[in-house]
Amino acid sequence: MDISVIGGGYMGLVTSVGLAELGNTVTVIDLNESKVAMINSAQAPFFEPGLHELLQKHVGSSLFASTTFEDVADSEISFICVDTPADETGHVNLTKVKSSACSIGLALQGLETFHTVVIKSTVPPGTTESVIIPLILGKSKRNFSTLGFSANPEFLREGQAVADFMHPDRIVIGVSDGRAEEILTRMYCKIDAPILTTSIKSAEMAKHVSNAFLATKISFANEVGNICKNLEIDVYDVMRCVGSDHRISPNFLSAGVGFGGSCLPKDLKALIHLAEALGEEPFLLHAVKKVNEKQPERIYRLLERKLGKLKNKRIAVLGLAFKPNTDDIRGSPAIPVIQSLDAKGATVIAYDPLAVENMRGVFPRIKYAKHPLEALTGADACVLLTEWPEFECLDSEFDAMQTRIVIEGRKILLCKNKEGVCW
Ligand code: UGA
Repeated sequence: MDISVIGGGYMGLVTSVGLAELGNTVTVIDLNESKVAMINSAQAPFFEPGLHELLQKHVGSSLFASTTFEDVADSEISFICVDTPADETGHVNLTKVKSSACSIGLALQGLETFHTVVIKSTVPPGTTESVIIPLILGKSKRNFSTLGFSANPEFLREGQAVADFMHPDRIVIGVSDGRAEEILTRMYCKIDAPILTTSIKSAEMAKHVSNAFLATKISFANEVGNICKNLEIDVYDVMRCVGSDHRISPNFLSAGVGFGGSCLPKDLKALIHLAEALGEEPFLLHAVKKVNEKQPERIYRLLERKLGKLKNKRIAVLGLAFKPNTDDIRGSPAIPVIQSLDAKGATVIAYDPLAVENMRGVFPRIKYAKHPLEALTGADACVLLTEWPEFECLDSEFDAMQTRIVIEGRKILLCKNKEGVCW
């Protein structure tokens, strides 16, 4: 199929290479000229395992990038994959989704061939039907006889997004009519996963609920971890016993410094906002958010317990990305940790295999090291905030510290003489 993908960000570009890998011809449309130039020269604008290889394989033959919407007219399907940021209150900004819808509508004007518009961006339930579809119908001056619509949320995890695209647990397709369903089912036929067909609104809701539930599992594990630590119980041992029950599952029960990223925190806030706008009181969701916001504070409290005042203390921070295998620092727990260390007058020297340049944009004044040993040499304490595999075997490197005080915000180290934030 000929497919247009609007948005060359994490989700849009991974979706595009995945669709090209499935045998489709894909045009990525993005207004950012330098991003389009990078894609057209088969360079990934951000790090994601497997992305570079698939760009190299498909760019110029079945994958192209453009700054204009011209190709939408020749394609059978267009995917809207632009970001939908939420403000502090959880209110979702739909500006990019709306302008994409208008541009798609204009590009489809005067054509008669059937076209399906698929919304992959995470939007509040009801948005596709009340905002996006009317805009596309209005701008294209066409009707449902030649236009189909679907909400097809993605469940890709950063750092594993390409593999997740090719091997998802399920594909959720919210559809307006049988024709859109048939086209999408055909498009996904090479992927071995159940296709769950539902209404557009349910599909939009399923995305928010999935992320809010994952966030709930993590905050639950963190709260249990905080209790366990007081009792000198290892929460990882407890969750190993608890997670072996198939009704619970061992996944997303890893306690630590809290969840970050651009999705879990955002979708949780958006669901709270939605619930409150409906007059509901989402007690549980508020608690999930609060546990997460408080968790990074435990790092500097532990440091203060061991070092006293942090002023002029040299603290090595290992791990800046919100999770391993990405250079993404959005919502990273490292941000509030560094902020409070800085505010308390500590000298921070940070290291991450990929995310240093991104973090420099947030904290230009702190020091950055080129390798863990450089960060650790002479440090009064070390905090580890991302479970990068390269940290796993660190041990003798900690002996280069002034004092060997090692606090893990993620459980990864194999050595002895360390302490977990909540284990
Ligand atoms: C999340 C969802 O997992 C995806 O299914 C979804 O598609 C995506 O959001 C999205 O909406 O786009 P992602 O944010 O990439 O994916 O990362 P996760 O693997 O969910 O991790 C999120 C955060 O939770 C990370 O900071 C991670 O360290 C933390 N986490 C995860 C824990 O603290 N404990 C765990 O047990 C698992």
